[in-house]
Amino acid sequence: MSSEELCIGVLGSGNGSNCEAILQACDRGQIPGRVAVVVSDLADAFILERARKRGIPAHFVGPSRFKTKLEPELETQMVSILRAAGVELVALAGYMRVVKMPLLTAFEGKMLNVHPSLLPAFPGLHAWEQALNFGVRVTGCTVHFVNEGVDAGPVILQQAVPVLTNDTPATLHQRIQVAEHESLPEAIRLFALGKLQTDGQQVKILE
Ligand code: GAR
Repeated sequence: MSSEELCIGVLGSGNGSNCEAILQACDRGQIPGRVAVVVSDLADAFILERARKRGIPAHFVGPSRFKTKLEPELETQMVSILRAAGVELVALAGYMRVVKMPLLTAFEGKMLNVHPSLLPAFPGLHAWEQALNFGVRVTGCTVHFVNEGVDAGPVILQQAVPVLTNDTPATLHQRIQVAEHESLPEAIRLFALGKLQTDGQQVKILE
């Protein structure tokens, strides 16, 4: 393993298709990095299974008394796991809780999230359903740095996805996920190459 490789930690709560996209981008050399550890707040999340199948350490941290966040003690556990694995960048790949202290401060400026809408439209849960219900013609995905707000951090990349007349929540989410699987690895690649320069809410992509 080269010392030039970015050491990535992935957090997720579900299927882990975005984690898979990161793993494949590392495999084919698109991302100069490797996934060192995967952590989930749900014991039976398939994302853990995906990691284990590849021999990547996979940890469940929980259970939590809350639905939308983790107790600080549990976030402390996450920080320890990520630090012990040498993680330099945390990718939230379908992690469905709001990141609080101490996790947020431990990886300030080193945590990315993928969200299934063109932020600032439709933050929060089931963004593709929100888009359908609102009747927009275009939605998409956003990769952004994580800050203390909900889906509010500096935007790195966005990709538009059309909403089609016959879309159901499932078909629209599927199409958004295709975009996510491109945008999230690409944002990680740019981070790994040191090409992201943040100035307040603005992210400049260096040539
Ligand atoms: C993705 O569509 C991701 O954008 C969304 O959860 C899905 C996880 O899919 N995340 C959020 O809505 C966070 N606000 P995956 O587990 O197959 O990667």
